[in-house]
Amino acid sequence: MNNNDIDKEFEGIIKPIIDNKEFRKLKSVAHHGISRFDHSLRVAYFSYKISKILHLNYKETTEAALLHDFFVDEVEEENSLMKLRRHPNHAVNNASKYFDLTDRQKDIIKTHMFPITFTPPKYIESWIVDIVDDFSAIYEKYYSLKKEMRAATSFMLILLVNIIRMR
Ligand SMILES: [Fe+2]
Ligand SMILES: [Fe+2]
Repeated sequence: MNNNDIDKEFEGIIKPIIDNKEFRKLKSVAHHGISRFDHSLRVAYFSYKISKILHLNYKETTEAALLHDFFVDEVEEENSLMKLRRHPNHAVNNASKYFDLTDRQKDIIKTHMFPITFTPPKYIESWIVDIVDDFSAIYEKYYSLKKEMRAATSFMLILLVNIIRMR
């Protein structure tokens, strides 16, 4: 399978979801400085790549990764930590309204915020989406910073690494 075939396969898996009218509303929801649609697409793409390389259930993983933050109406919570904890269940309930989810897919969506949420993932595919989501969020937040802030953050990180190395 060459790169072109891989991308075609990925596009085939995500098509029924990204063609869904409700899901497309995520294009206008801001998330980490981009849209929640673009964030979900990034998490789905890297989860697809990793789960395929590891010969896991990559179709289910890709679909669930795409749906991991699928909700348009915000979670009403008193503080942002509670929102971080509650939104995976909110996403599972919402995604179940539009798509038939397997147990593995429900677990992927429900546990994508572990350890902020307390129940650990049951499947290796859930761990993959959890970790890919974390790296995507860090990357997106970093690139959403203004140039000066990015430079300052990079400087602080380099300084921190050097302090640790000197100890
Ligand atoms: Fe999330
Ligand atoms: Fe996310």
